[in-house]
Amino acid sequence: MGLDYKKSPGSTTTSDLEELVREAKRARESAYAPYSGFKVGAALRAVSGEIITGCNVENASYGLSICAERTAIVSAVARGHRDFDAIAVVTETSPPAPPCGQCLQSLVEFSGDMEVVLAGTGDERMLVRLHDLLPVRFELRKE
Ligand code: THU
Repeated sequence: MGLDYKKSPGSTTTSDLEELVREAKRARESAYAPYSGFKVGAALRAVSGEIITGCNVENASYGLSICAERTAIVSAVARGHRDFDAIAVVTETSPPAPPCGQCLQSLVEFSGDMEVVLAGTGDERMLVRLHDLLPVRFELRKE
């Protein structure tokens, strides 16, 4: 697959997405995953262009662990961002792993659709859309 962004369905440029992947890789280095050993990094691009990152943070009480994507979302919202164009998620698996169902639901709370770049720690990339990953979602309200 490599760095093939030709099928990009959105307006974000390839270099924007690669910048997002670089930031997600950097965030992954901060992952605290002593129990699973599975480090994840995420980087959100707000519509303002600002990039907000997150990593997974585990806990000895396993259920308290939080995923990288939700770390990024709560951090972004706390800084005043609610609309996002894209997210990059970096894992060391091949193919690179998508966000879990809980993280998909957390993402759609703030942006019904966005580009989702799934990246490996090397050159592997998959470009999908949030709407395709969670086409039917639970929603109550929109402000
Ligand atoms: N993890 C994430 O950070 N994002 C996901 O979407 C799925 C799983 C983390 C949680 C846990 O720390 C580790 O990966 C193994 O499940």
